[in-house]
Amino acid sequence: MAAISMRNIVKKYGDGFPAVNDVSIDVADGEFMILVGPSGCGKSTLLRMIVGLEDITSGDMIIGDRRVNDLAPRDRNLAMVFQNYALYPHLTVYENIAFPLRLAGVDNATVDQKVRAASKTLELDEHLQRKPGNLSGGQRQRVAMGRAIVRDADVFLFDEPLSNLDAKLRGQMRTEIARLQKRLGITTVYVTHDQTEAMTLGHRVAVLKRGVLQQLATPRELYEQPGNLFVAGFIGSPPMNFLPATVDGDQVQLPFGTVKIPSERARLLADSGHREGVLIAGIRPEYFEDASLVEPAKYGSGSTFDAKVDVVEWLGNETYAYIPFEAPPEVTEQLEQLERDLDGDSMRTQLVINLDGASKVEEGDQAKIWVDSRKIHLFDPATGRNLTLDAAHAGRVPSLTDAPSA
Ligand SMILES: Nc1ncnc2c1ncn2[C@@H]1O[C@H](COP(=O)(O)OP(=O)(O)O)[C@@H](O)[C@H]1O
Ligand SMILES: [Mg+2]
Repeated sequence: MAAISMRNIVKKYGDGFPAVNDVSIDVADGEFMILVGPSGCGKSTLLRMIVGLEDITSGDMIIGDRRVNDLAPRDRNLAMVFQNYALYPHLTVYENIAFPLRLAGVDNATVDQKVRAASKTLELDEHLQRKPGNLSGGQRQRVAMGRAIVRDADVFLFDEPLSNLDAKLRGQMRTEIARLQKRLGITTVYVTHDQTEAMTLGHRVAVLKRGVLQQLATPRELYEQPGNLFVAGFIGSPPMNFLPATVDGDQVQLPFGTVKIPSERARLLADSGHREGVLIAGIRPEYFEDASLVEPAKYGSGSTFDAKVDVVEWLGNETYAYIPFEAPPEVTEQLEQLERDLDGDSMRTQLVINLDGASKVEEGDQAKIWVDSRKIHLFDPATGRNLTLDAAHAGRVPSLTDAPSA
């Protein structure tokens, strides 16, 4: 097992475009680290530089106590766990797992001992003589992992292993991988563009945008303290709502009315140097509630407003309601850019709110909505920076903390 330290890693392809731009990430021994971001943000490139399949333009890649920049992949002792379809259909499970050992010319007795140890860990004992085609998706994924385990690799690397599976199987496999990683305790780097996988699998998550690290934090930190608009919009489903806001002290004027934010957040905003102009307020769907359903003890920590509900989706345990709003051009431009960055297609000038399933709100209603104003973040529309960030609980936000590199 080993820790990985990526220091100021840059990758420029032939055209000079930095696919990975000055990224520094430390993965602790035994940690499950996720690299996440939209397609093209450099995730696979970074992973391939860890494995040694791609040259590193500049920076240091340290694995264990060795600088591996110039080591061939086979000398790095890492295992790339490929998708389950990379199994050999004509070989038994046993021989599929044994494959890397056979290639390396390992003697039969050692092969047998290692395959059986791996199969025990992976609960594949009764399947060893079967062919991959007869196994469930989850079992096949375990065989693929078995192949990595027998090599006694220091690190497991996954590149979007679940992206070709249907939603149900993806859910099962996610649980499977998380369980195995916990049991094996092997340092793991896992690439995905799926924020749900990022949130559920990893100890920590590195969010990338166009080759640049945006934030490195636990799922909870990312969710509660996103460092900028990009992270705020990327993490969470349905995504955070973004609304135009003007602020006076602790009074925040939104399209629906004025809410009062906690004095600590107002102070953070004042300390950020913001004086005037339109900001972008970020409020997650579940921070809203049907005002008639809010418990009295909670009511006072929020604000209420009246709004005309356009569409209602009742799902039994919860209700989604949609409320259109107007935004000034400087805000819509920034939100359209954000949509392009996120590879998304959601319409940002409607509020999506998540109410209790008991809500009787109907389409066309003028509804009384409560919002938990303690949880509102305010972003600078020009830079995207979160001006109300509690930096002590946000993991690492390189744009705020790291010295600019030369
Ligand atoms: N072999 C290559 N030659 C030139 N450009 C590449 C090559 N591989 C990837 N890129 C570019 O580098 C960027 C990052 O790609 P990649 O690491 O595959 O992103 P991701 O895995 O996040 O989708 C993209 O702009 C992509 O077009
Ligand atoms: Mg990729």
